[in-house]
Amino acid sequence: MMIEVKAPSNIAFLKYWGKADRKAQWPAGDSLSMTLQNAVTMTRCKLISSAFDDSNYKFSETEIRQKSKHSESTGSTPPNQHEAHSDVIVFDGQPKEDKKISTALSILRRQTGYQASLYLETKNTFPKSCGIASSASGMAALVIASLCAWTGSTSFDDLEKNGFTKNRLAHLARLCSGSAGRSLYGGYVEWLKKDSPATQSITCAFPADHWQLSDLILLVSKDEKSVGSTEAHDLAWSSPFFAPRISYLPEKLQLMKRAMVARDMENLGTLLEAEALEMHSVIMTATPPVNYLTKNTTALLSWIRESRKAGVFQAWFTIDAGPNIHLLSDMSEKPKIIAALKADHPDLEFIEDQTGNGPVINILV
Ligand code: PMV
Repeated sequence: MMIEVKAPSNIAFLKYWGKADRKAQWPAGDSLSMTLQNAVTMTRCKLISSAFDDSNYKFSETEIRQKSKHSESTGSTPPNQHEAHSDVIVFDGQPKEDKKISTALSILRRQTGYQASLYLETKNTFPKSCGIASSASGMAALVIASLCAWTGSTSFDDLEKNGFTKNRLAHLARLCSGSAGRSLYGGYVEWLKKDSPATQSITCAFPADHWQLSDLILLVSKDEKSVGSTEAHDLAWSSPFFAPRISYLPEKLQLMKRAMVARDMENLGTLLEAEALEMHSVIMTATPPVNYLTKNTTALLSWIRESRKAGVFQAWFTIDAGPNIHLLSDMSEKPKIIAALKADHPDLEFIEDQTGNGPVINILV
């Protein structure tokens, strides 16, 4: 049986930046995000067993067949008791050795005890490693898909019956990539630091139907980032702005949530822009400094603020660890923003996204 998981990316309103405990993936502060609907990772997964046959899948390759045959050679051992793993990873149609995926699978095997080899086929609906949090959707999809395969589950209800509640899956995803934990839920999700790694929590703060927001993701650059977020998180502590930021985060979270309760876009938007620029100030003043913003990014930020001031549209920006811009607004503003983008930046590609409902599991065969 092959299952397919569609897991969304998320855009942080209040940013997870810096770790209090790297090994436990305990964040230095609270964060809050909006789950997206269209920017998703699709991961197909099944156990590699003696019945492995990939002929029904369009990404099948001779190399995959050879690798899967190799993993069958462990003989009569039941799939979940294989000691040596021979996972087959197919990325965007090509068999691939992927360090991030194999590290995540090691973490999952250590945490859950499941050992069987997996066939995993994955692709994104958006360019990866350019600040659209492909690790969030990718790791969320990987965790759900692997646990479905290992436990024989075909739905979230099944997973829960097998001991894997959404909350447990969120924490497994967090261990693979911090922001991925928030992609297990739809709507708006908060990840609270609390007092210890064991008490940190990931929960839905508001469901998607509380407030549907538009997010136009402006693809300023599709290049891979120069410094990965794992490395950059560690540098956060060296910025003089980091300590004051951390002490103010709980208050900022409350201000954002208050604006969200009131569905007050202007108030939320003002907080979003200040927060994004604050995170980039920390990144830029670390030792050594990192700069994710290109001159095209900063030109667009000025354009957004000028357009807002001139009454062309009412939208506010946020940016994760990359050069691309998320332009957030009430849904009713979206046509005006798209018209302005087409008039003033005809060559700029963008993805139309909005508040999403969270991951879904489908059975393929
Ligand atoms: O999950 P990571 O380790 O890739 O960190 C992502 C951090 C930001 O996207 C910049 C902010 C966030 O809260 O998602």
